[in-house]
Amino acid sequence: MPLFSSCKMSMVSILILLVLSAKRSRGADDNGVYNPCVTLGRLKMKDGISLGVGMVNGISSWYNNSDVNSNLLSPCSSQSAAQLPLAARTSVFRPVIEQIGQFELDNASYVELRRNFTGDASLVVFAGRNPTVISKPRFFLYADGRVPELTLDIHFEEGKLIHLIWKEDDCAACYAKNQLCRDGSCVTRETDCQSADTTNSTITDYNCRLMIIITFSGVDRYSQLLTTWYQITHINRYSMASIFNALERQIQEGLERLDRSG
Ligand SMILES: *[C@@H]1O[C@H](CO)[C@@H](O)[C@H](O)[C@H]1NC(C)=O
Ligand SMILES: *[C@@H]1O[C@H](CO)[C@@H](O)[C@H](O)[C@H]1NC(C)=O
Ligand SMILES: *[C@@H]1O[C@H](CO)[C@@H](O)[C@H](O)[C@H]1NC(C)=O
Ligand SMILES: *[C@@H]1O[C@H](CO)[C@@H](O)[C@H](O)[C@H]1NC(C)=O
Repeated sequence: MPLFSSCKMSMVSILILLVLSAKRSRGADDNGVYNPCVTLGRLKMKDGISLGVGMVNGISSWYNNSDVNSNLLSPCSSQSAAQLPLAARTSVFRPVIEQIGQFELDNASYVELRRNFTGDASLVVFAGRNPTVISKPRFFLYADGRVPELTLDIHFEEGKLIHLIWKEDDCAACYAKNQLCRDGSCVTRETDCQSADTTNSTITDYNCRLMIIITFSGVDRYSQLLTTWYQITHINRYSMASIFNALERQIQEGLERLDRSG
């Protein structure tokens, strides 16, 4: 069975959703799709969108036959999920369109991931079906360090999900925190996270755990312009810090195993 195939939604709740969508208000989350592997309708400002985060070891695990020129394996298809390694894990989160959001795992899950993925580990973000939109894989753990921050843009055209694109960082901010630069990401050294003795005073718990910052671009189904991507790419690090402080921290519950039984 493919991932998330179990349908938790009863007929009753489907009926309720139909009634709700008939008297749609523009200010609420009217997206009834909570499974990241189900076809998405056209979305609007303030709708939530459920995204899956899939994690495996090396980036090559995401490609069929390790061929990075062939298509990415979709965590939503039973055929391709079966080719992903046993250690693959997923988690789901639901940012709200045009609110800067974040993905962050609870501490215990993250510590366990670090323990299980002793070498490099990578992730993709995905949503929808036919096709499932999948981001490029990005490293979030290295054998000698951890990526504390990735920024993802969710791009819509007339409310239709089109791309999940990483904001490429230029490592400009790494050196102030004594971080490494790997594949365009600032990486906190593992030694700075593992032992209190070697902790550099500029390294905080935040720098030792992954946060994916979510922004939006394009236009929604009512042709309203989504601008958080633009905002975040045009502000300096100082304003970034104030945005993070203002973020309501919604820590994801944890990780599930990819269902590979199909
Ligand atoms: C992977 O590649 C093989 C051989 O090219 C092909 O038969 C198989 O269908 C592919 N699997 C997926 C999930 O694309
Ligand atoms: C996270 O877990 C690790 C290992 O158990 C612990 O050392 C660390 O203090 C925890 N961090 C937080 C913020 O709870
Ligand atoms: C880590 O590996 C153990 C043993 O294989 C497994 O039971 C556990 O679910 C894994 N945890 C994570 C977060 O991957
Ligand atoms: C801690 O970070 C500061 C700021 O970049 C740096 O000057 C210092 O050398 C670092 N200390 C250690 C022990 O790495």
